[in-house]
Amino acid sequence: MIVYLNGEYIDQTAAKISVDDRGFLFADGIYEVARVYNGRIFLMQPHMERLRHGLRELRIRTDVASDLPAIAERLLDENKLRGGDATIYIEVTRGAAPRAHAFPSPEVAPTVYVLAKPFKNHPEKYWTDGVSALTMPDTRWSRCDIKSIALLPNVLANQQAHEAGAFEALFVRDGVLIEGSHSNLWGVIDGTAVTYQSCGYILGGITRKLLLERAHEAGVQAREAPIRVDELPNVQELFLSGTTTEVMPIVKVDQQTIGDGRPGPVTRKLQEAFKQWRRT
Ligand code: PDD
Repeated sequence: MIVYLNGEYIDQTAAKISVDDRGFLFADGIYEVARVYNGRIFLMQPHMERLRHGLRELRIRTDVASDLPAIAERLLDENKLRGGDATIYIEVTRGAAPRAHAFPSPEVAPTVYVLAKPFKNHPEKYWTDGVSALTMPDTRWSRCDIKSIALLPNVLANQQAHEAGAFEALFVRDGVLIEGSHSNLWGVIDGTAVTYQSCGYILGGITRKLLLERAHEAGVQAREAPIRVDELPNVQELFLSGTTTEVMPIVKVDQQTIGDGRPGPVTRKLQEAFKQWRRT
């Protein structure tokens, strides 16, 4: 497997970073995950816009983003991934410098890592039958709009869900369902698909954005609105959105069945539409 690290295309086993890397020491960096369908990168531009947003917020040079689409394309060729499904993983950290909280001065070169690897998908029945989720308190910071590599709350929440046999952990803040540990959350209330408003409490998902912008093409109304935990008995459908999750129905939350316990019509319409969109 050939990867890109700091200007070089090298075998993954030869890719090494410094123990002084601020990603390692402070989680001082950001990442992106993009999906490749049939050898083509899906929605690379919005992924790059979000990466630039993160770089600006971290005050890391944004010009490192310019070459990333071409690097990702080359990795697909180098690793012979043009024939199938894959993911692109990009990570940028502030770089390597002796440990001190303040930024290195003078500035050091950011660490840039890009990986393209074949995608091993979840079982198809997750999409056709739906999955279960577990609610838990949102212990994260209030800058979740930054796709930070500091994912400990997400990791711990996801592990807890995993151990309980659930697919996803749903973060709850002040009685409101915010998002999943690695996906955005949607509910269908009075026939409209709703998702938590864009702010520092959620990651502005690229799939979420696509659905907000294009749901109407599937005859579905979509808008930003909160979903309260105590509203769950009246929520007609629930689903997740994400780069690897796509549009995935949730049929059970904690011990509570959602709707009639099967993926609902709005979710299925959006799943169908998503299949069309990812071809283009
Ligand atoms: N996760 N919310 C969180 C906390 C996420 O980590 C993700 C993505 C999303 C969905 O965003 P998008 O539609 O842009 O994938 C929402 C990625 C895939 C990951 O960490 O692997």
